[in-house]
Amino acid sequence: MGTTPHMAVAIGGLTLKNPVMTASGTFGYGREFSLLVDLNRLGAIIVKGLALAPVKGNPPPRIVETPCGMLNAIGLENVGIDAFEAEKMPFLRTLAIPVIANIYGTRIEEYAALAERLDVLEGVSGIEVNISCPNVKAGGVVFGVDPEAAAAVTAAVRRRTAKTLIVKLSPNVADIVRIARSVEDAGADALSLINTITGMAIDVETRRPKLANVTGGLSGPAIRPIAVRMVWQVARAVRIPVIGIGGIVKAEDAVEFLIAGASAVQIGTANFRNPCAALEIAEGIGAFLARHGIPDVRRLASDRLRRI
Ligand SMILES: Cc1cc2nc3c(=O)[nH]c(=O)nc-3n(C[C@H](O)[C@H](O)[C@H](O)COP(=O)(O)O)c2cc1C
Repeated sequence: MGTTPHMAVAIGGLTLKNPVMTASGTFGYGREFSLLVDLNRLGAIIVKGLALAPVKGNPPPRIVETPCGMLNAIGLENVGIDAFEAEKMPFLRTLAIPVIANIYGTRIEEYAALAERLDVLEGVSGIEVNISCPNVKAGGVVFGVDPEAAAAVTAAVRRRTAKTLIVKLSPNVADIVRIARSVEDAGADALSLINTITGMAIDVETRRPKLANVTGGLSGPAIRPIAVRMVWQVARAVRIPVIGIGGIVKAEDAVEFLIAGASAVQIGTANFRNPCAALEIAEGIGAFLARHGIPDVRRLASDRLRRI
């Protein structure tokens, strides 16, 4: 038997004990899962997207099941930064793993103000900037589809924080590599991708959209091949770490992203079906490495795929 594989990875200034994090919006504020999951065995937790003020989100129905995935149009419902600090942080501070706050705004100044608050918030190790939510009218994805706007948000947040800065990219664009490069040049420490892909479902009996918001974001295994392709394209085009997201439900799915060039992964929709999914995936990656005699998770990335 070989020795236990090395599982730690670096993302910006953070060291994660393993490359598996929970994706924003699919794991609440962590506490909801703490009775079921030993959170300290995860690589990191990314909490639900935060805005400056509380947001109620879209009217129901907000979730629809689809073949191999789900459509959601939550509309970034969240408690707002004040309640996050007062009510959610005391628990999150007890954790031994990095807590990453996911933020969104409708104007660049809102992103900047959130970054300023989070920069001095003890217990928050990093910031993931969501410029890719397809479910809110103004903001979010507006910044994610334009290289200049994406760079402007990134630069504004960068100026306000020395904490690890991850920018989460939208797949709903023609050229994701262009956006990735401009966000890298604007000072991001890492990129995460992908957010959900805009979709729609219709109830043929009522002839009405299934979601009150009409369109929603598609997530789950259905989007994985698109996510793997985009992670591969981006990872070979930038020098900063890439975090792969999209339809990961088991360890081999995560390994696919790591081979494509991701340094770490996030688990989203799978948490709804199995609250222990992220933990099981982290353990499964270790078992995969041991089975294949690979001593270090950082050796999974394929040089050949990088050069193609
Ligand atoms: C119900 C739900 C809520 C989400 N909320 C957020 C959010 O607040 N901020 C964000 O950046 N991404 C959000 N996402 C996107 C996920 O973090 C992830 O990028 C996406 O679902 C793809 O990964 P998956 O296929 O593993 O779910 C949400 C996804 C779902 C399904």
